[in-house]
Amino acid sequence: MDMLVKSLPAELVVRLKSARRAAALTGAGVSAESGLPTFRGDEGLWKKYKAEDLASVDGFLQKPDIVWEWYEYRRSIYANAQPNLGHRALAELEKFYPEFTLVTQNTDGLHFAAGSENILELHGSLRRNRCHSCGQLYPEKVPDEGRKPPRCGCGGMLRPDVVWFGEPLAPSILDAAWRAASQAEVFFSVGTSALVQPAASLPLAAKRNGALLVEINLEPTPLSFAADFFLEGKASEWLGLIKEELQ
Ligand code: OAD
Repeated sequence: MDMLVKSLPAELVVRLKSARRAAALTGAGVSAESGLPTFRGDEGLWKKYKAEDLASVDGFLQKPDIVWEWYEYRRSIYANAQPNLGHRALAELEKFYPEFTLVTQNTDGLHFAAGSENILELHGSLRRNRCHSCGQLYPEKVPDEGRKPPRCGCGGMLRPDVVWFGEPLAPSILDAAWRAASQAEVFFSVGTSALVQPAASLPLAAKRNGALLVEINLEPTPLSFAADFFLEGKASEWLGLIKEELQ
């Protein structure tokens, strides 16, 4: 039995309570407790599948049917996933802080489902499709007319509205994320390996601009050296404790 009861450092609690502007960057680790696979762990998606085949424009243009099927498979897993305590605690933090921006690399929509509102989806959303040719947006579920991938009115192929390797992030979303990071007094980096750019630079930008940097992860990451507080363990446990302190 785990006899270790986690508690937040007193100094951290004081700093968290005195801040007015906060921001968070989340990654796949936050959704792991909802049963969704991460990308780089032992059981991670990129251990079993090749990102360049399934999450790149070249891969899509070479085998659009396979890429579409892979995303249909992921969507079938995501369809039943529910937000966990970590997602819900982040939604509560948004109520506590007068300014709170949630920047997420996740495409699963679970932060919305948990009630967070001010969300920047850096890597897009699996909950939408868009035409690869003309950019027209479509809902997640499109009529099955027997073609994989389905086609847009313009004849172009539909794809999930996510950012693939080698593609730029939406400039307006990235700008808003930089702004939130540079203005934050507290910045949380939660459940991300902090390996994918430009997301991984946001916590460092926040710190350079004077934010207290709090990292929550099962294990140290390349960001940990810069964290003022590294909280080792599950996102749901630490975020739950933080939420209780702030309520
Ligand atoms: P990764 O799979 O790279 O990292 C997940 C992190 O979560 C790891 O550092 C784990 O230690 C940590 N972790 C796992 N379970 C956790 C838990 N219960 N509580 C706290 N931490 C936990 O996922 P991301 O960092 O999100 O990009 O990956 C970033 C991007 O790489 C993704 O958005 C995706 C991927 O390629 C695109 O699709 C564009």
